[in-house]
Amino acid sequence: MKNPTMTLIVHGGAYDIPLETHEAHMAGCRRAAEAGWALLKGGGSALDAVEAAVRILEDDPTYDAGYGSFLNANGEVEMDAIVMDGRNLDVGAVAAVQRVRNPVSLARLVMTESEHTMLAGAGAEAFAREHDIPICPVEELVTERERERWHIQSAGTPHEWDGNVRLQAVGLPSDTVGAVAIDAGGNVATATSTGGTFNKHPGRVGDSPLVGCGAYADNQTGAVSATGMGEALMKIVISKQVCDLIAAGMSAQEAADAAIAALAERTTGQGGVIAVDRLGRAGIAHNTPYIAHAYVSAGSEIVAGIRGPNAPMLSEMNK
Ligand code: GLY
Repeated sequence: MKNPTMTLIVHGGAYDIPLETHEAHMAGCRRAAEAGWALLKGGGSALDAVEAAVRILEDDPTYDAGYGSFLNANGEVEMDAIVMDGRNLDVGAVAAVQRVRNPVSLARLVMTESEHTMLAGAGAEAFAREHDIPICPVEELVTERERERWHIQSAGTPHEWDGNVRLQAVGLPSDTVGAVAIDAGGNVATATSTGGTFNKHPGRVGDSPLVGCGAYADNQTGAVSATGMGEALMKIVISKQVCDLIAAGMSAQEAADAAIAALAERTTGQGGVIAVDRLGRAGIAHNTPYIAHAYVSAGSEIVAGIRGPNAPMLSEMNK
């Protein structure tokens, strides 16, 4: 088998990204890719790289993850995250956490320091305290933009049209973040983090922290991170589906395209995936208007972009 090419891809969500925020989405993805790539180039593991990349995206209020997450129907953040290590299929996840700045790092700690796979809510935050992960007031993760969005929505308006115009002025919804990588040793890893859906019922958990749905990584196939409407993505276990298609002989790009085609055919949902296969070949696919991403592999510069409907396949970069 050909030696794998060290590769990192990050995404900053797949949705109708407003034109005026394209720059911010690309800049954040680039910063995340720089952080992850610096670790990979220095001999770090794929797991270190995806965690570092997703932490940058969680700290950036542009995205629906960490600081800047959507608010639930109670006006509070509730975040989900997952990491998966392709070496041994180890997984760590957290769901509905409210007081942790970087849920992705808590997910990693669940993987390495507990006998469990997922911790939720108050129990996850207690675990964070036990392991000296800083706990912050829930208000610290709420941005003015999201507070305003929530107030407009919850106040209701006499004319729905007026409400929509005001919501548009606040900015259209944002989306989940994630990263996939393959390191110099040929090990793959993935991480995904989200604030979930706007105005969700408290306690709602989407696809992101569910293994095989929001993410999957297996050294025998590849690593995948998903974004989009969680209720649809989980129905087709989209990230595991991409890995299964790679196992059946597809490249990362072919598998990503086929999984998004299945999402469109079998559900009414929209979303996107990024994938890297065990050779380091990249794939990115979506049935949303746009997906924000950055890509880098050995021998190439970091490329950050907003991929639209007619964007070139990433596989062109794989030649
Ligand atoms: N894909 C993120 C969510 O639906 O929660």
